[in-house]
Amino acid sequence: MSVFAVVGAQWGDEGKGRVVDYLAADASLVIRYGGGNNAGHTVVNPHGHFKLHLVPSGIFHRATRNLLGNGVVIHPPALLDELDHLAAAGFNCSNLFIADRAHLVMPWHLLLDQLEERERGAARLGTTSRGIGPAYVDKVARRGFRMIDLLEPDAFRERLGVAVGRVRRLVDSYYQAGGPDDELAGPIREATDSHRIAEEYLAAAARLAPHVVDGQALVDEALERGETILLEGQLGTMRDLDWGVYPYVTSSSPIPGGASLGAGLPAVRIDKVIGVAKAYTTAVGAGPLPTELDDGHGTSLRERGAEYGTSTGRPRRCGWYDAVAVRFSVRLAGYSSIALTKLDVLDAFESIQVCVAYRDPATEARWETVPASASVYGRLEPVYEELAGWQTDTASARSWTDLPAPARAYVERIESLAGVPISHVSVGPAREQMIVRS
Ligand code: IMP
Repeated sequence: MSVFAVVGAQWGDEGKGRVVDYLAADASLVIRYGGGNNAGHTVVNPHGHFKLHLVPSGIFHRATRNLLGNGVVIHPPALLDELDHLAAAGFNCSNLFIADRAHLVMPWHLLLDQLEERERGAARLGTTSRGIGPAYVDKVARRGFRMIDLLEPDAFRERLGVAVGRVRRLVDSYYQAGGPDDELAGPIREATDSHRIAEEYLAAAARLAPHVVDGQALVDEALERGETILLEGQLGTMRDLDWGVYPYVTSSSPIPGGASLGAGLPAVRIDKVIGVAKAYTTAVGAGPLPTELDDGHGTSLRERGAEYGTSTGRPRRCGWYDAVAVRFSVRLAGYSSIALTKLDVLDAFESIQVCVAYRDPATEARWETVPASASVYGRLEPVYEELAGWQTDTASARSWTDLPAPARAYVERIESLAGVPISHVSVGPAREQMIVRS
C-alpha cells in the first residue's frame, strides 16, 4: 500500500489530471485536496476527451473511489453540471464522495470575485472569476457554509438570510455597485436573492446528499485496509498561497502540506510525492513569468500544446522551461520523482532554451531562487542554457530508448537541474503515451 500525492511543480496546468488518470488504475481512493472549479484537468482516455473541474481524475476507473476532500471549495451548480456531463458519457459517479466538511462556493463569492477584480483595475490578479478567493476568505473568517449545512435546511435558510444581508451592505456601501448602468446589476440581484439561492442550493443538496460522507472516516478506513491512495493537487507551487508569487496566487495550498490538511490524513502517511512539470512553462492570470515568450516561439508552444485554459478558455502565457521555479518547488514539496509532460510539444524546435538562473539587470546580481517580492521578480531576466532540439516526432515513442538522443539529453539536463529523478515522460495525452523510466 502507498499514499501518493500528485502535485503541480509550476504555475498549474502541468498535466496532473492525466498523471492521476494513469496512476489511478492501481489506486482504490483518489482525493482532491484543494481549490475548486477554478481547476481544469484535461483527461483523454479510451472513454473520450474530458474536462474535469471538481471531480477527481480517478472517476473513470469504476472500482476507484473518489473523494472531494474537506480542503476543496464546492460550487454545487458547477458540480451538478459536471456530474450531468459525466452521466451523459456513461459514468453515474456512484464512486464519487464529498467530504461533509468541505466548504461551499456561494453565489455572492462569484460576484465578490468580480467586484474585487474590478476594484483592482490595472493591478488585477486575473482570477478565474469562479469565486474561489472569496469562498476561502469566508472559511477563514468563520462564516463559511459547508456541505454539511446543506443537509440542515432550516438552519441553512436562516444563516443564508444573515449572509445575504451582509453582502448587500458590502455591495451598497463599500463597492457602491449595482446602479442602473452597472453591468453587474443583474448578477448582484441574483447573488443576493436568498429565496432563489435557497431553492437552488437545497435542490442541489437533494442530488448531492447520497455522495456526502465523513471524509476522514473514509480515508481512515482506506488507510486501515492498506489501500493505495492518490492525493490529487490543483494548480502548482508558483500559485500557492504562501509560496507562490504573492499576490498573484490562489487562495489554497497546492503543495503537499496542503494535501494532508485538505484530504484529512496524517502528513507522515504520505509515502511519495510526484511532482508534475511540463517540458516548458505556461501560466494563466497575471504576475511575473520570467521565461514568457512574446514571439513566434511562444505562439508555437501555445498552438502545438493547445495551451488554452480548460476552465476559462483564456490563451495561456507560454515560455521556456524554468528550472529555477521547479527547483524552488522541489525544495518545498520534496518530490520523490517528477513526471515530465508534453515533451512532444518541443518536437518542432531546432534549439531549446532552459532557464538555469535569473539575473537582475539593475544590480547584475544572479538569483538562484524565487524572490518574495513580485516587483523584484518582475524585473528579473532569465539566464538561459541552450540545448539542441531533435526535430523528430516523439508522439509514437513508447519507451525511453524510443526517444531521440537530444530529447533524452534534454530530459536528463532537466533532471540534473531539478535534483530528483524524472520517472515518467509523456509524449501525448493518451494513456499509452506515458513513458515510464523507473
Ligand atoms: P483563482 O484561483 O481563480 O482565485 O485565481 C488565482 C490565480 O490562479 C490566477 O492567476 C488564475 O489564473 C490562476 N489559476 C486558478 N486556477 C487555475 C488553473 O486551474 N490553472 C491555471 N491557473 C489557474
